Amino acid sequence: MTTVAWKALNKHLGDIQNHQLRDLFASQTDRFQQLHLEFEGGLLDYSKNRLNQVTLDKLFDLASEAKLEHWRELLFSGGQINHTEQRAVLHTALRDNKPNPKQTLVSRELDRMQQMVEQFSQKKWLGSSNKPLREVVVIGIGGSYLGPKLASEALQTYAQKDVLVHYISNVDAHDMHEVLGLIDPTETLFIVISKSFTTQETSTNMRSCMRWLVEKTGDQSVIQKQFIGITANTELALKAGLAANNILSMWDWVGGRYSLWSTVGLPLALLLGMDQFRQLLAGAHSMDEHFRNQDFNKNAPVLMALIGIWNRNFLNLPAYAVLPYDSRLRSLPRYLQQLDMESNGKDVDRHGKACTYQTAPILFGEAGTNGQHAFHQLLHQGTTTVPCDFIGFRQTNYSQEHHHILLSNMLAQSQAMMTGRTLEESTAMLQAKNAERIDTLAPAMSFSGNRPSNTLLFDRLTPFRLGSLLALYEHKVFVQGIIWNINSFDQMGVELGKTLGDKILQSLQSKSISNEFDSSTAALLTYLMQQSD
Ligand code: F6P
Repeated sequence: MTTVAWKALNKHLGDIQNHQLRDLFASQTDRFQQLHLEFEGGLLDYSKNRLNQVTLDKLFDLASEAKLEHWRELLFSGGQINHTEQRAVLHTALRDNKPNPKQTLVSRELDRMQQMVEQFSQKKWLGSSNKPLREVVVIGIGGSYLGPKLASEALQTYAQKDVLVHYISNVDAHDMHEVLGLIDPTETLFIVISKSFTTQETSTNMRSCMRWLVEKTGDQSVIQKQFIGITANTELALKAGLAANNILSMWDWVGGRYSLWSTVGLPLALLLGMDQFRQLLAGAHSMDEHFRNQDFNKNAPVLMALIGIWNRNFLNLPAYAVLPYDSRLRSLPRYLQQLDMESNGKDVDRHGKACTYQTAPILFGEAGTNGQHAFHQLLHQGTTTVPCDFIGFRQTNYSQEHHHILLSNMLAQSQAMMTGRTLEESTAMLQAKNAERIDTLAPAMSFSGNRPSNTLLFDRLTPFRLGSLLALYEHKVFVQGIIWNINSFDQMGVELGKTLGDKILQSLQSKSISNEFDSSTAALLTYLMQQSD
């Protein structure tokens, strides 16, 4: 990029690279005070990043130069910011009670959803053998799966008694049979979630589950009673045999990975009840208001986005880890992988030109402390520096003994990444213990430190808090897309694989290999066909 603010940041980089984080903390005793934000019932500590106030000011200039305020208004007011698909991007309207362009549509579907939830929780939704349905199987993938799955796990402590929700996403039949092996066909409601209703994995799983259900119940009309569809393509859902009353709408102005707030949240509403689902929406809305109204320097998503840009484009750090220290958020990294990498994993800008700068980092993560016993070795001593987001909660529903251990681990990880341990320090430590082989051990026990992280702390994991946390990341991703001048709301990159997959499937089914295939694909197919004979 050649803009004024970008160049100024590049120039400023030299000043920052001369400083180690531990020295910045030593010389600036109020560093935390200067570089943290209390917002919307939470705290963002960004002091453990390799930056200072000058860096931030220059990043705010970058945001202004990219006309972030203008784009933010377009987002909320329904401008066609998804220009390739000529669509507005209005997931924020799904969680806004105030008059908005989509309010009538949204509240009508929410009311229909509420009726379904009431019928189900009052045990009035009867299956083909007249028994009330109490288990739910959700069939969907990507944005039609990751959000409900994450939220169901995260909010399990709020679940209503006796409701069990299972998910089938992968087209691998092992995924489906694992779930079908657990359920009673006479007591199970199936929810098919697919915005397009053409997704191969979901259609295949849906058809197989339908066949299984008809076979198990011996009732051809069971599909009309025990299947719900959530889609923007009602016609295909009807064709698949679903009853019109059992189809909830979603819309093309809501992207799949932004759709948890729509009727896609039905599994969650069945699990928690409608009031708690509305709390999730309220939490997300409160973050929308924060993002829309706060100045950049007090705006959590803007700060996190700009710090991410600094790490990715100026410090040149290719990866990014999200580490929730709460096992209920174990699926958050996977959810954010789609949100971040499907939105901003792009190499063409809004004018159709190749990006000459890096875009989305490679995102991964795991709930703490599990990740500590897997990949944190690399986070501490690997040759690649990986900026991290640590996420923790002050309160727990269970033992304080466990919770204190959990939280102390979280704080120790970010502290260790920041300070590191010098060769002199590890040598002195070994000498104090009268250790042998100090020359061998001391280098291996040294840590470069200077590894950046954010820490997000909240009071308690509630539906409201989860809504607000997910909306925080949505807006972070949006801001980065604006700075990179890319369209964060299409996903053309997933298409080529789908198209090629169709031809390969034909080959597998017909047991013939077209000479259109390259030698590698042809040979791999040959091997697979031999194995299945
Ligand atoms: O992976 C591509 C994708 O289109 C995602 O963007 C989407 O969330 C997912 O497939 C599922 O799509 P659908 O809801 O149409 O089945």
